[in-house]
Amino acid sequence: MRAERLDFTGVADDDVTWTLLGTLYLRAWESGSRHPILADRHAAEAIRRIDYDFPKLHRRVRPESNQYLVALRATQLDEWAADFLRRHPDAVVLHLGCGLDSRVLRLDPPSTVDWYDLDQPEVIELRRRLYPEREHYHLIGASVTDPAWLAGIPADRPALIIAEGLLPYLDGAEVRALVQRLVGHFGTGELQFDGGAPWLTRLSPLGRWGIRDGREVEAWHPRLRCVEQPPFTTHWAKIPARGYRLLYRLGHAIPGWRNMFREFRFTF
Ligand SMILES: C[S@@+](CC[C@H](N)C(=O)[O-])C[C@H]1O[C@@H](n2cnc3c(N)ncnc32)[C@H](O)[C@@H]1O
Repeated sequence: MRAERLDFTGVADDDVTWTLLGTLYLRAWESGSRHPILADRHAAEAIRRIDYDFPKLHRRVRPESNQYLVALRATQLDEWAADFLRRHPDAVVLHLGCGLDSRVLRLDPPSTVDWYDLDQPEVIELRRRLYPEREHYHLIGASVTDPAWLAGIPADRPALIIAEGLLPYLDGAEVRALVQRLVGHFGTGELQFDGGAPWLTRLSPLGRWGIRDGREVEAWHPRLRCVEQPPFTTHWAKIPARGYRLLYRLGHAIPGWRNMFREFRFTF
């Protein structure tokens, strides 16, 4: 049977949906490099099935340099997630703003884990057509800011909540209400996400929420503890290309640079 093709040609590049294509393309590109960090072959397969003006996208997202940002970011979150799932094989995973990311395929959790991928309804429709169904895997087509969908998620199991490349597109009040709602719903778990400094968010036309330090989010709920907040440059040594490895290494030595974009890990 021939795999179905997905038509993205009508998606405007000022639309937030477009951003998922950018990150998917970067992961796909990185998987084809000689010494990949993330090696997301599912992203490469997905890109082959999508119709889009990829030469134009290529010029916009500049994979030669930006592949490392998405690969390091996803690798860090994958490692944290795998660590959580090893300790909690009965977990519920909420992967918010999943886009077309193949995290569930990369981590391949045991069937004792229930995994929920959530994104806007039109993105979830694309996911349904792109990736195979699997047991204990659920798709939710809804806005993450809509409080209704959370009622359907079991609250009595350890929860792993991942939001990669999502929260900067919400406004501060929405992020705060979401975090409070999530922590209030579950008894225990972890919240993992990436975030940019407020000045960086202001530079992006779609950016709305920025974060300086995890303590800002800790203050939103008494059970939240920020346990790690590594800058995106932390794992510069993993970068195979000498020039970019040096660039990231230098950037890591400059506080204003390394703290412009970080990943955050909270327990609750
Ligand atoms: C930069 S993409 C990241 C996608 C994916 N996490 C990745 O790393 O490839 C941002 C994603 O957030 C989703 N998104 C933005 N606002 C949303 C909302 N209010 N509710 C659900 N998803 C949202 C977009 O549809 C898009 O898939």
